[in-house]
Amino acid sequence: MVGQDTVALLKRVTIFANVEEQALRELAALVITKDYPKETLVFGQDDPGDSMFVIASGQVKVVLYGENGKEITLTFFRAGDIFGEMALLDDKPRSANVLTTEPSQLLILKREAFIEHLKRCPATAIEVLAVLCQRLRKADEVIGNLALLDVFGRVARVLMDLAKSDGETIDEGVLIRKRPTQQDIASMVNSSRETVSRVLSEFQRRGLLLMDGKKVVLRPQFYDQLG
Ligand code: CMP
Repeated sequence: MVGQDTVALLKRVTIFANVEEQALRELAALVITKDYPKETLVFGQDDPGDSMFVIASGQVKVVLYGENGKEITLTFFRAGDIFGEMALLDDKPRSANVLTTEPSQLLILKREAFIEHLKRCPATAIEVLAVLCQRLRKADEVIGNLALLDVFGRVARVLMDLAKSDGETIDEGVLIRKRPTQQDIASMVNSSRETVSRVLSEFQRRGLLLMDGKKVVLRPQFYDQLG
Protein backbone atom coordinates (compact mmCIF):
# COMPACT_ATOMS: atom_id res chain seq x y z
CA MET A 1 0.00 0.00 0.00
CA VAL A 2 1.43 3.43 -0.92
CA GLY A 3 1.65 6.15 1.75
CA GLN A 4 -1.28 8.18 0.38
CA ASP A 5 -3.62 5.17 0.62
CA THR A 6 -2.53 4.66 4.23
CA VAL A 7 -3.29 8.31 5.02
CA ALA A 8 -6.73 7.98 3.40
CA LEU A 9 -7.37 4.86 5.45
CA LEU A 10 -6.23 6.40 8.74
CA LYS A 11 -8.57 9.35 8.08
CA ARG A 12 -11.53 6.98 8.11
CA VAL A 13 -10.56 5.57 11.52
CA THR A 14 -12.59 7.28 14.29
CA ILE A 15 -9.64 7.78 16.65
CA PHE A 16 -7.79 9.78 13.97
CA ALA A 17 -10.86 11.76 12.84
CA ASN A 18 -9.61 15.08 14.26
CA VAL A 19 -5.94 14.73 13.37
CA GLU A 20 -4.36 17.17 10.93
CA GLU A 21 -3.18 15.93 7.54
CA GLN A 22 0.52 16.52 8.26
CA ALA A 23 0.47 14.53 11.54
CA LEU A 24 -1.41 11.71 9.80
CA ARG A 25 1.17 11.63 7.01
CA GLU A 26 3.96 11.32 9.56
CA LEU A 27 2.08 8.53 11.31
CA ALA A 28 1.34 6.75 8.01
CA ALA A 29 5.05 6.68 7.23
CA LEU A 30 5.61 4.55 10.35
CA VAL A 31 2.82 2.07 9.69
CA ILE A 32 3.59 -1.50 8.61
CA THR A 33 0.98 -3.17 6.38
CA LYS A 34 0.49 -6.93 6.58
CA ASP A 35 -1.91 -9.36 4.89
CA TYR A 36 -3.34 -12.27 6.90
CA PRO A 37 -5.21 -15.24 5.43
CA LYS A 38 -8.57 -16.26 6.91
CA GLU A 39 -8.41 -18.00 10.30
CA THR A 40 -4.90 -16.85 11.21
CA LEU A 41 -3.86 -16.06 14.77
CA VAL A 42 -2.75 -12.42 14.82
CA PHE A 43 -1.54 -12.83 18.39
CA GLY A 44 -2.29 -15.02 21.39
CA GLN A 45 -3.44 -14.20 24.90
CA ASP A 46 -0.47 -13.51 27.22
CA ASP A 47 1.86 -12.77 24.32
CA PRO A 48 3.98 -9.67 24.90
CA GLY A 49 2.60 -6.83 22.76
CA ASP A 50 4.21 -3.62 21.61
CA SER A 51 1.91 -2.73 18.73
CA MET A 52 -1.62 -1.68 17.94
CA PHE A 53 -3.57 -2.73 14.85
CA VAL A 54 -5.94 -0.90 12.53
CA ILE A 55 -8.10 -3.07 10.24
CA ALA A 56 -7.76 -1.88 6.64
CA SER A 57 -10.00 -4.68 5.33
CA GLY A 58 -11.44 -7.97 6.55
CA GLN A 59 -12.62 -9.00 9.99
CA VAL A 60 -11.11 -10.37 13.22
CA LYS A 61 -12.58 -11.85 16.36
CA VAL A 62 -11.37 -11.46 19.94
CA VAL A 63 -11.58 -14.74 21.84
CA LEU A 64 -10.71 -16.38 25.14
CA TYR A 65 -10.18 -20.13 25.54
CA GLY A 66 -11.20 -22.04 28.64
CA GLU A 67 -9.08 -24.89 30.00
CA ASN A 68 -11.27 -27.46 28.22
CA GLY A 69 -10.78 -25.59 24.92
CA LYS A 70 -14.16 -23.86 25.16
CA GLU A 71 -14.15 -20.66 23.13
CA ILE A 72 -15.74 -17.40 24.31
CA THR A 73 -15.99 -14.69 21.67
CA LEU A 74 -15.73 -11.22 23.20
CA THR A 75 -16.30 -9.28 19.99
CA PHE A 76 -15.72 -8.95 16.25
CA PHE A 77 -13.83 -6.01 14.71
CA ARG A 78 -14.03 -4.79 11.11
CA ALA A 79 -12.49 -2.25 8.72
CA GLY A 80 -11.71 0.99 10.53
CA ASP A 81 -11.66 -0.62 13.99
CA ILE A 82 -8.55 -0.75 16.17
CA PHE A 83 -7.38 -3.51 18.50
CA GLY A 84 -4.28 -4.35 20.51
CA GLU A 85 -4.35 -0.90 22.14
CA MET A 86 -4.48 -2.37 25.67
CA ALA A 87 -1.07 -4.08 25.77
CA LEU A 88 0.39 -1.12 23.91
CA LEU A 89 -0.89 1.35 26.51
CA ASP A 90 -0.46 -0.57 29.78
CA ASP A 91 2.68 -2.52 28.82
CA LYS A 92 1.13 -5.82 29.97
CA PRO A 93 0.65 -9.06 27.98
CA ARG A 94 -2.19 -9.38 25.45
CA SER A 95 -5.54 -9.71 27.23
CA ALA A 96 -7.08 -12.04 24.61
CA ASN A 97 -6.44 -13.96 21.38
CA VAL A 98 -7.17 -12.22 18.08
CA LEU A 99 -7.87 -14.31 14.94
CA THR A 100 -8.88 -13.32 11.44
CA THR A 101 -12.29 -14.60 10.34
CA GLU A 102 -11.75 -13.34 6.76
CA PRO A 103 -8.64 -12.57 4.71
CA SER A 104 -7.56 -9.29 6.33
CA GLN A 105 -5.18 -6.45 5.75
CA LEU A 106 -3.91 -4.93 8.99
CA LEU A 107 -1.94 -1.76 9.65
CA ILE A 108 0.51 -2.18 12.50
CA LEU A 109 1.63 0.74 14.66
CA LYS A 110 4.51 0.27 17.05
CA ARG A 111 4.34 1.60 20.62
CA GLU A 112 7.00 4.33 20.23
CA ALA A 113 5.37 5.71 17.07
CA PHE A 114 1.88 5.72 18.58
CA ILE A 115 2.93 7.22 21.93
CA GLU A 116 4.85 9.94 20.07
CA HIS A 117 1.72 10.64 18.02
CA LEU A 118 -0.46 10.77 21.19
CA LYS A 119 1.88 13.35 22.72
CA ARG A 120 1.58 15.55 19.64
CA CYS A 121 -2.16 14.97 19.09
CA PRO A 122 -4.12 14.87 22.35
CA ALA A 123 -7.32 14.64 20.23
CA THR A 124 -6.34 11.06 19.37
CA ALA A 125 -5.80 10.26 23.07
CA ILE A 126 -9.33 11.48 23.86
CA GLU A 127 -10.76 9.35 21.04
CA VAL A 128 -8.88 6.28 22.33
CA LEU A 129 -10.37 6.89 25.79
CA ALA A 130 -13.83 7.11 24.21
CA VAL A 131 -13.24 3.76 22.43
CA LEU A 132 -12.18 2.18 25.73
CA CYS A 133 -15.30 3.58 27.44
CA GLN A 134 -17.58 2.18 24.70
CA ARG A 135 -15.94 -1.23 25.06
CA LEU A 136 -16.36 -1.14 28.84
CA ARG A 137 -20.04 -0.21 28.44
CA LYS A 138 -20.52 -3.10 26.03
CA ALA A 139 -18.68 -5.49 28.39
CA ASP A 140 -20.98 -4.36 31.25
CA GLU A 141 -23.98 -5.10 29.05
CA VAL A 142 -22.66 -8.56 28.16
CA ILE A 143 -21.97 -9.38 31.83
CA GLY A 144 -25.52 -8.27 32.67
CA ASN A 145 -26.99 -10.34 29.84
CA LEU A 146 -25.07 -13.46 30.87
CA ALA A 147 -26.26 -13.13 34.45
CA LEU A 148 -29.82 -11.97 33.85
CA LEU A 149 -31.08 -13.40 30.55
CA ASP A 150 -31.79 -16.96 29.49
CA VAL A 151 -30.27 -18.31 26.29
CA PHE A 152 -33.26 -17.12 24.21
CA GLY A 153 -32.75 -13.58 25.47
CA ARG A 154 -28.98 -13.72 24.92
CA VAL A 155 -29.28 -14.93 21.32
CA ALA A 156 -31.96 -12.27 20.73
CA ARG A 157 -29.58 -9.56 22.04
CA VAL A 158 -26.79 -10.71 19.70
CA LEU A 159 -29.17 -10.54 16.73
CA MET A 160 -30.50 -7.12 17.77
CA ASP A 161 -26.95 -5.76 18.16
CA LEU A 162 -26.10 -7.02 14.66
CA ALA A 163 -29.30 -5.52 13.26
CA LYS A 164 -28.33 -2.20 14.85
CA SER A 165 -24.79 -2.16 13.45
CA ASP A 166 -25.34 -3.85 10.06
CA GLY A 167 -29.09 -4.13 9.51
CA GLU A 168 -31.07 -2.78 6.55
CA THR A 169 -34.74 -1.96 6.93
CA ILE A 170 -36.85 -3.84 4.38
CA ASP A 171 -40.62 -4.44 4.10
CA GLU A 172 -40.50 -7.64 6.21
CA GLY A 173 -38.37 -6.19 9.03
CA VAL A 174 -34.63 -5.66 9.53
CA LEU A 175 -32.33 -7.66 7.25
CA ILE A 176 -28.92 -8.92 8.46
CA ARG A 177 -27.11 -10.05 5.33
CA LYS A 178 -24.39 -12.09 6.95
CA ARG A 179 -25.07 -13.47 10.40
CA PRO A 180 -22.23 -15.15 12.34
CA THR A 181 -22.16 -18.96 12.29
CA GLN A 182 -24.18 -20.81 14.93
CA GLN A 183 -20.87 -21.77 16.55
CA ASP A 184 -19.81 -18.11 16.71
CA ILE A 185 -23.16 -17.10 18.22
CA ALA A 186 -22.81 -19.96 20.73
CA SER A 187 -19.40 -18.70 21.79
CA MET A 188 -20.82 -15.17 22.25
CA VAL A 189 -23.68 -16.32 24.49
CA ASN A 190 -21.81 -19.03 26.42
CA SER A 191 -23.85 -21.91 25.02
CA SER A 192 -23.52 -24.76 22.52
CA ARG A 193 -24.05 -24.77 18.75
CA GLU A 194 -26.90 -27.25 19.17
CA THR A 195 -28.73 -24.97 21.63
CA VAL A 196 -28.29 -21.94 19.34
CA SER A 197 -29.67 -23.99 16.46
CA ARG A 198 -32.72 -24.90 18.59
CA VAL A 199 -33.23 -21.27 19.66
CA LEU A 200 -33.09 -20.01 16.06
CA SER A 201 -35.54 -22.72 14.94
CA GLU A 202 -37.90 -21.77 17.77
CA PHE A 203 -37.73 -18.07 16.79
CA GLN A 204 -38.54 -19.10 13.22
CA ARG A 205 -41.38 -21.36 14.31
CA ARG A 206 -42.91 -18.49 16.29
CA GLY A 207 -42.67 -16.25 13.20
CA LEU A 208 -40.22 -13.88 14.89
CA LEU A 209 -37.53 -14.19 12.22
CA LEU A 210 -36.97 -15.41 8.68
CA MET A 211 -33.77 -17.27 7.81
CA ASP A 212 -32.26 -18.08 4.44
CA GLY A 213 -28.67 -19.34 4.69
CA LYS A 214 -26.64 -16.51 6.25
CA LYS A 215 -29.47 -14.01 5.78
CA VAL A 216 -31.77 -13.27 8.71
CA VAL A 217 -34.73 -10.92 8.86
CA LEU A 218 -35.89 -9.79 12.31
CA ARG A 219 -39.66 -9.30 12.03
CA PRO A 220 -41.38 -6.46 13.93
CA GLN A 221 -42.81 -9.20 16.26
CA PHE A 222 -39.22 -10.05 17.22
CA TYR A 223 -38.79 -6.57 18.75
CA ASP A 224 -42.30 -6.61 20.26
CA GLN A 225 -41.67 -9.89 22.09
CA LEU A 226 -37.92 -9.83 22.79
CA GLY A 227 -36.83 -6.19 22.55
P1 CMP B 1 -4.72 -6.29 23.87
O1 CMP B 1 -4.92 -6.66 25.27
O2 CMP B 1 -3.45 -5.63 23.49
O3 CMP B 1 -4.93 -7.58 22.96
C1 CMP B 1 -6.24 -8.15 22.85
C2 CMP B 1 -7.14 -7.05 22.36
O4 CMP B 1 -8.51 -7.42 22.25
C3 CMP B 1 -7.18 -5.90 23.37
O5 CMP B 1 -5.92 -5.29 23.38
C4 CMP B 1 -8.34 -5.10 22.86
O6 CMP B 1 -8.00 -4.40 21.69
C5 CMP B 1 -9.28 -6.26 22.48
N1 CMP B 1 -10.20 -6.59 23.59
C6 CMP B 1 -9.93 -7.28 24.73
N2 CMP B 1 -11.03 -7.40 25.49
C7 CMP B 1 -12.03 -6.81 24.81
C8 CMP B 1 -13.42 -6.60 25.06
N3 CMP B 1 -14.03 -7.06 26.16
N4 CMP B 1 -14.14 -5.91 24.14
C9 CMP B 1 -13.56 -5.45 23.01
N5 CMP B 1 -12.25 -5.63 22.71
C10 CMP B 1 -11.50 -6.27 23.60
